[in-house]
Amino acid sequence: MSTDSAKPEPVGSAAATPVPAAAGTKPRARITAISSGKGGVGKTFLSANLAAALARRGERVLVLDADLGLANLDVVLNLFPKITLHDVFTGKANLEDAILPAPGGFSVLLAGSGLVEYSRLTPEVREQLLKVIDTVAPRFDRILLDTGAGISDVVLYTVSLADEVLIVATPEPTSLTDAYATIKVLATQQHRRAIRLVVNQTSRPGEGRSICGQLQQVVDRFVTPLATDGIGPIKLDFLGEIPTDSVVREAVQRRQLLFEALPGCTVAKAVSDIAAKLAS
Ligand SMILES: Nc1ncnc2c1ncn2[C@@H]1O[C@H](COP(=O)(O)OP(=O)(O)O)[C@@H](O)[C@H]1O
Ligand SMILES: [Mg+2]
Repeated sequence: MSTDSAKPEPVGSAAATPVPAAAGTKPRARITAISSGKGGVGKTFLSANLAAALARRGERVLVLDADLGLANLDVVLNLFPKITLHDVFTGKANLEDAILPAPGGFSVLLAGSGLVEYSRLTPEVREQLLKVIDTVAPRFDRILLDTGAGISDVVLYTVSLADEVLIVATPEPTSLTDAYATIKVLATQQHRRAIRLVVNQTSRPGEGRSICGQLQQVVDRFVTPLATDGIGPIKLDFLGEIPTDSVVREAVQRRQLLFEALPGCTVAKAVSDIAAKLAS
């Protein structure tokens, strides 16, 4: 989606409130899955702060905690949900009651933690997740799916529901190897041709772009030849890099959005630039 027609509602008020479908100018939200090969690379941190950055640009944003069994978006946002997606999936609560306003001017659908039933992709999970996304999509400009890491069937199914995928990787060789493996699976199984990349926890300016270039080379050499459906080469779309900075850990410790607490800091600026690229 583009931001040209998004309503410039004040941050933290009306922007967090879903509006009835009929009042929306867009028929359906653009769905972006935020995923990674390796865990602990910054997906949840980025999802929350990117949502705040997009909300500030005037988008009506919903973040869905799609790390269903090990959800922790609530922790990052300092929310204590009484109703989660688990209650919606099991028919104990209405979807409407599970959509909460978050600090930062966006909405969230939170999930439960320690729920082993979400470690496998069952027909119920497939159906419920699809139903929830279909119901909320007309009311927002953008939905961010904060997924789990890796290539389990639950993660791949969640990602398959998105219009676009944003992979988060760090410069560590283990993270890059896992990012490459994930990209390969997404290209060959989901026939994705454009995959967005954010390199988090960089230690020098330019490191992210250089890593993206290296990953692109490996993808050109080993993955593109596997994509035999003739749609063309697989393109990594570099959205930006975020430096390693102690302010991130401190914000998570304080359970604050960095984008709210220190909007002018280098990391917030980096997230803002990523939001601008994503929206363009
Ligand atoms: N740019 C960064 N600089 C410093 N620490 C970071 C950065 N990004 C993430 N972290 C640290 O990594 C932790 C894990 O991030 P999280 O978003 O929970 O990862 P994931 O959702 O991918 O498992 C954060 O709580 C934070 O302490
Ligand atoms: Mg996470």
